Amino acid sequence: MKIVLTGSLGHISKPLAITLIEKGHDVTVISSQEERSTAIEAIGATPAIGQLYDTSFLTETFMSADVVYLMQPPGIYFDKTPDPRMSWTHLANVYAEAVHDSGVKKIIHLSSIGAHTDTGVGMLAAHHKVESVLKELPPAVSIKFMRPVGFYYNMFAFIPAIKAQGAIIQNYGGDLQEPWVSPLDIAAVIADEIEAPFEGRAVRYIASDEASPNVVAKILGKAIGMPELKWKVVSDEDFLNGLLSNGINANTAKGLTEMNAARMKNLYDDYNKHKPEAGKVKLEAFAKDFAEVYSRS
Ligand SMILES: NC(=O)c1ccc[n+]([C@@H]2O[C@H](COP(=O)([O-])OP(=O)(O)OC[C@H]3O[C@@H](n4cnc5c(N)ncnc54)[C@H](OP(=O)(O)O)[C@@H]3O)[C@@H](O)[C@H]2O)c1
Repeated sequence: MKIVLTGSLGHISKPLAITLIEKGHDVTVISSQEERSTAIEAIGATPAIGQLYDTSFLTETFMSADVVYLMQPPGIYFDKTPDPRMSWTHLANVYAEAVHDSGVKKIIHLSSIGAHTDTGVGMLAAHHKVESVLKELPPAVSIKFMRPVGFYYNMFAFIPAIKAQGAIIQNYGGDLQEPWVSPLDIAAVIADEIEAPFEGRAVRYIASDEASPNVVAKILGKAIGMPELKWKVVSDEDFLNGLLSNGINANTAKGLTEMNAARMKNLYDDYNKHKPEAGKVKLEAFAKDFAEVYSRS
């Protein structure tokens, strides 16, 4: 099949491209950087260099594709425009137009945990909006919405507080298990979904492992040689102020604080009703990557 991937050689798209090429597919990888072409060709894919926000470029790149993989780049959360979520809605509209104009009939969309609702999930409500925009495409376009849970690599954000204050500091915590996922498991699920039949609109959650915040602290602490590492819970207000003082966009900081608070409320409601089979990459394995990054920080 002819498959077009957004997301360049990122955490998901690189292993996804490699798997699809190994399976014999013709893969095009979109990157915004001309200098990425050599690395894209080196894995056996065709580079398409351009901006995701460029409808003509996307339409031309999607032309004659059997399946396109669409993702929202994360940098948008951290730009300094008043509301970064608007950029995602804009991108969803660009995607919809390019899909429509190119005639693509099968889409895999990288959505997220929390996309089941627009209420009480903070920044993740943007994924609900993006799904709503794509659902407006004609019924002849089949869409598989992939909803991974929180990525393990988000935990790298714990490192500054561990280094400065000797603890993981968040506005949630405790002994209730929550799911985490590796981009490698996401890529494996998407590769399977690309080859499986498409029909109408479908949703699939993706997770690798489950652990409570206190267990996460124990496993990460052991990996970095701090077996007594604790997960400390602070108020939403203190957490928000911490993000703001680090210069994070005000809407993003508020959205992150609400998202974290939702972990103890409604974030996993729909996930718990449609729990996926766990992937292969367990928290203990990620802890080794965490220790490496921690020692280099
Ligand atoms: N973190 C979580 O817990 C979580 C949970 C659920 C869903 N998600 C979703 O997962 C996404 C991240 O996926 P990932 O880790 O695979 O991404 P990633 O590794 O950050 O890769 C994204 C790549 O897209 C390319 N890109 C960025 N802006 C572009 C533009 N304007 N035009 C063309 N290409 C552009 C960049 O590569 P070039 O420099 O080569 O262009 C970038 O490296 C998030 O944005 C979110 O939507 C995240």
